[in-house]
Amino acid sequence: MATKYTPLKDHDTPIKVLFTGYLCTVGIGYLFALIQILFTHGMADGKFGLSVNDIVYSYYGNRSGTVLEQKLNGSMKDKAPEQERFKIMEWVRDGALIEDYKDDGIDKIIESRCVMCHNESASGIPDFTKFEQLKILTAQDTGATFSSLIRVSHIHLFGISFIFMFVGLIFSFAETTTTQYKCIAIGMPYVFLIADILSWWLTKIHPMFAWLVILAGMGMAVSFVFMWATSILEMWFFKPVFIDGLGSRYLQWRDSSATSVADRLWFYIKELAKQIKLAGAFAVEQWLKHGWPVIKDWLKK
Ligand code: HEC
Repeated sequence: MATKYTPLKDHDTPIKVLFTGYLCTVGIGYLFALIQILFTHGMADGKFGLSVNDIVYSYYGNRSGTVLEQKLNGSMKDKAPEQERFKIMEWVRDGALIEDYKDDGIDKIIESRCVMCHNESASGIPDFTKFEQLKILTAQDTGATFSSLIRVSHIHLFGISFIFMFVGLIFSFAETTTTQYKCIAIGMPYVFLIADILSWWLTKIHPMFAWLVILAGMGMAVSFVFMWATSILEMWFFKPVFIDGLGSRYLQWRDSSATSVADRLWFYIKELAKQIKLAGAFAVEQWLKHGWPVIKDWLKK
């Protein structure tokens, strides 16, 4: 099969050095991103390690209670006797109103049990001599805020698509992977990137979608590792891996299977694209015929 591009192994050494430098730097970046995820989201449920609960707490929030209640049942449990903690929680459940704060005697409890630590001179923990700071902790924990999701979404979409632009570009010179598999490996990260961002927003609405966050993240990682490893191996280890090593058996397998899974998958993808095109054309036609005139009439009036 004649290739219309220069295979990775035949590129000049300076280009290989450039490609390798980029891939290694991005690879290290990916590792740091994983560590960062482990330390921010991973700790959301109070336990080390990433779980579905972490993702639910991060995006959907822990709606079973407020921060104040959670703390009074958690690390602040020994700071006040049962009865007084119960009174505070009751006040929170009744809406944490400032009118009830004095009437229910909550102010006395806070003053005698909490303010010795939670005061002006304490740094890093809320100051309970100010009612507003206590009030904030009585709101339901609804997870990531709208504005933080918008910020992180656009940063991720711009940033990660660039990473996969270059990783995919380098990988597109690979010769040991068939065109079908290459298209899938190069396209997959973009599908999963969009699924990932979408799943954050969906998880904010319903915790069920936390699974999609994990699935999309793993899909991105798999295609990244595949493209990364194939590119490096072809550039520097072509002979030992693909001619003498395990890779040669992979190539035999690749060339022998006429109707492989990838071929069939490829066929379905092409069929699906055809159907979508037809449906799109139909929708546009219907719109021009029926939808647009109605709106035009309506605008004239
Ligand atoms: C001995 C000092 C001390 C006392 C007394 C104390 N706290 Fe705390 N509190 C802390 C420290 C330290 C933290 C931060 C570490 C943590 O979250 O466990 C904290 C954190 C909190 C938080 C979480 C704040 C946040 O922004 O996440 C809440 C809520 C809280 N305390 C409520 C109370 C209440 C209510 C009382 C009184 C019943 C109380 N604390 C008494 C030391 C104290």
